[in-house]
Parts: sequence; structure tokens; C-alpha cells
Amino acid sequence: MKIVLAEKVSPATLAVFAAEPGWEVLTHDKLPDGLPAALADADALVVRSAVQVDDALMEKAPKLRVIGRAGVGVDNIDAEAATRRGIVVMNTPGANAVAVAELTIGLMLALARKVPAANGTMHAGKWEKKSLQGSELRGKTLGILGLGRIGLEVARRARGFGLEIIGSDPFVSAAVARENGIRLVTIDELFAGCEYLTLHVGLTPQTADIINAKTLAAMKKGVRIINCARGELIDDAALVEALKSGHVAGAALDVFREEPLKNSAYTGLDNVILTPHIAGSTGEAQEAVGIQIARQVREYLKLGVVQNA
Ligand code: MLT
Repeated sequence: MKIVLAEKVSPATLAVFAAEPGWEVLTHDKLPDGLPAALADADALVVRSAVQVDDALMEKAPKLRVIGRAGVGVDNIDAEAATRRGIVVMNTPGANAVAVAELTIGLMLALARKVPAANGTMHAGKWEKKSLQGSELRGKTLGILGLGRIGLEVARRARGFGLEIIGSDPFVSAAVARENGIRLVTIDELFAGCEYLTLHVGLTPQTADIINAKTLAAMKKGVRIINCARGELIDDAALVEALKSGHVAGAALDVFREEPLKNSAYTGLDNVILTPHIAGSTGEAQEAVGIQIARQVREYLKLGVVQNA
């Protein structure tokens, strides 16, 4: 078997494949003729989020049987083209859920307590105690859009801060929500009912631009929005407008329509916190997603077992 690891993965991930006698593993830093050439006789391809696996790339890989995504979102892989070519696409739901949930909570606290501004002014030699008064999370309502593994991890942590939690997800029952301390509401009730809104849905035609001028107008004045899911969920022009008018008091954005972020209207807005798609980037999560995808790909190649496809 020939496995191509097109992006950096942990040594433990590599070890899963390397332990198989006769298996050849090519890592991202050892592709002298580039990725398409390496795929010419590859059985499996493993990627994170940077490599775009489109139909043209798959065309160069006539033997490819499986694409493993070390992470959750598979929007960098043309799944339709893969299916047409008989290639299985797998991901690792859950393996980085805690990492994403922890950053989400961190960003909520950073918005509430103006941590980036406090840090920036201190490094500039200023003592701005008066202008840096914040607000508490306790007693506020957190709206969670999407109650999958990440949304539920966020809810579990948010309870410890005394937040009221409402959530919306057409695939989750009121009983599951209740068990996690969440009141299940409609999407309209969610948007209208929270002081903090956090997004944890995948990118689909139904969720693209779900935060837009209309839904923003339906939110409470002073709402704060956190997005650690996908940039395309937000109509950026509408959010920038709402941030400038003060209708939205703050936003913390880890993901963007185009990454890396360049020439964005968000940069320079002092009520916006920007991070470079790091929600899933902890040592623990990268280890977990890497090992999990390696095991899944190995089981598929050896035994035909399909997991998380
Ligand atoms: C994911 O889809 O798993 C997250 O966005 C993390 C990542 O891709 O880096």
C-alpha cells in the first residue's frame, strides 16, 4: 500500500502506517515532484484543511481508494467527485471537539473582559483600567447553533459559568438537549434570545450566510458572536455593518471565507477578535485526529471497514 500524507501530521499518526509491513508512507515534506505525481500510484491520501482535493487532483490518482481528513470539515474535499470515482472520504468527528469548545469559551471570556485590548494597551505602556471595565457571563443567555459533538461540549463548559443555554438543531431531540442543560428552541427564537451566539454547524447550502442582515437585525442589540465553525456561515459585509453600528457589540472569529485572511474589513475593528483557524489546533487534538484517521484508513485498506464516511 502507498499512503500519501499531504500535510503535517504527528509522529504517532505516521507510526500507525509505518507499523504495517510493506506499506510505503510519503510525508508532505518528501514529495519532490509535487502532490499529483506522488498520487499516481497511491492507495490513500490523508489531508488536514489546507490541501484542496478537487476532481482534477483525483484524476491524477487512478488507484486512490480512500481520502482521510484529519479533522471534521470536509469542505476542502470534492466529496461528489470522490463518490463518482469510488473513493471513500472519511473524517474524524469528535476528536477535536474539546479543543474547539475550549477556544470558544476562551473567546467568549476574551470578548466579555476585553482581554485583547487590555493586553495591547499594556504592551503599549498604557494603564487603561477605567476603559476596560467588562461584563460577566453569569446570568447571560448563550445561544448555540448546532448541537453536535462540539456544540454539546461548549454547553457542558458554559454551564459552569452560570450561563443560560438555548440551542437549535433540527437533528437533536429536546431530551438530549435537556440532558445537557440546553433548552431547545427554534432558530428564530435562538437568534432573538441570546446575548452570546456561537456557531457550530457544518457548511451546507442551508447554513451558508445564515448570519446575514436579516438574522442580525432579529438579534438583541449588544449581542456578541463567536464563529469557530466555517467563515461562509457569515455574510461578512452584514456583520461588519452591525459591528460598526454597535448592534453587534463584539465578534470573535477563528474562521474565514478565504484563508489565510487578507485585506479584510474586520481588521482594525476594535470590537473584533481574530484568530487564524486555531480552534482545533492543540497538541492533544492534532494527535487525536491524526491517530484516529490513520486507524480508520488502515482498517479500510486492510479490511474494507468504513468509519465516519
Ligand atoms: C475541523 O474542521 O476539524 C476544524 O476546522 C479544525 C481544522 O480543520 O483545523
